[in-house]
Amino acid sequence: MNDLERKILLNPGPGTTSDSVKKALVVNDICPREDEFGDLMQDIVEGLVKIGNGEGEYEACMFPASGTGAVEAMLTSAIGKNSKVLIVKNGAYGIRMADICHSYGLNFDTVHKYGEYPDLTLIKEKLSAGDFTHLAMIHHETSTGMMNPLEDAAELCEELGIDLIVDAMSSYGGYPIDLMKTKVSYLAASSNKCIQGMAGLAFVVFHKDKLDELKDNTRNFYFDIYKQWYHLKEKNQLRFTPPVQISYAFHKAIEETIEETVQARWERYQENWQMLYDLMKELGFTFFLPMEQQSKILMAINLDEKLPKGFDDFHDYLYERNITVYPGVIPENKTFRMAVIGDLNKEDMKYVGEVIREYLANQ
Ligand SMILES: Cc1ncc(COP(=O)(O)O)c(C=O)c1O
Repeated sequence: MNDLERKILLNPGPGTTSDSVKKALVVNDICPREDEFGDLMQDIVEGLVKIGNGEGEYEACMFPASGTGAVEAMLTSAIGKNSKVLIVKNGAYGIRMADICHSYGLNFDTVHKYGEYPDLTLIKEKLSAGDFTHLAMIHHETSTGMMNPLEDAAELCEELGIDLIVDAMSSYGGYPIDLMKTKVSYLAASSNKCIQGMAGLAFVVFHKDKLDELKDNTRNFYFDIYKQWYHLKEKNQLRFTPPVQISYAFHKAIEETIEETVQARWERYQENWQMLYDLMKELGFTFFLPMEQQSKILMAINLDEKLPKGFDDFHDYLYERNITVYPGVIPENKTFRMAVIGDLNKEDMKYVGEVIREYLANQ
């Protein structure tokens, strides 16, 4: 890896990967129908369940897709003809869940507006008044950097006897989600965020009690959770062509997640986030969210007079120095985003601080 430059990706995934994950991409050519490859895939799904402490109770399946594929698989496989889902639509990815349900004609309603913190009392009222069977929520809303209250939502779902569907795209592997404790029914994420692999695989972890329901509900051909899960279990293969090399890298990334432990990764992310937050605060920037709602994985920073030449100029200056920052997506609020997803450390954050100070000094 000597000839590769170190890139500090502060976009919310695909993130900076370790050298060992990069090296894992280079393997002998292999047909993915071979048992040897099937065993690797089985190992991956087992690892995905282990990351959420769900062994024995949970199953997982994978699709060659970006993260949206897993969300689409989860919603279209879980929401049957007699089901109805309430979606917490408080950011771009909540909106995406509603868009998916709309595209497939699934029975759904929404609660909350962009940037609003979920109000569990309101959600409970809505759920109790309607004939809902599922609640769907983003865990970490990557558009605003808000950590939605997963544990509280899980408690509410248990109390009301409904299923909880979670898009944990930008938290699973980087924040300790305990599947057994939260009793999440379905959770979606991808290879290239907090598990720190490369893009190309998306997955759904689900409670094994859901298998019967999943078997009967076939609204989707490619993104059918039951078929995908069954095929790997029974035939030791994915149904359709997997990204072979990406799978080896993902296997390595899962191994590294388990070795580091999700708890230690979460602590590393929080420390890196705090360093960036303190830096930006000291430099006079303000933030879209109050501290208590911040995920400590990503921050949306107000794009005010601190950057008179605009975001693109700031981005380009940092990019030329191997740092990538990310534009914002909050309607009616000009923001940009910085995330700490990936194989990043304190030295990286110090370097980011030096470069940003240098940029501002030269304004
Ligand atoms: C919470 C959340 N859900 C879904 C997605 C969609 O993932 P992808 O862009 O890989 O399709 C993202 C991407 O950032 C996300 O953060």
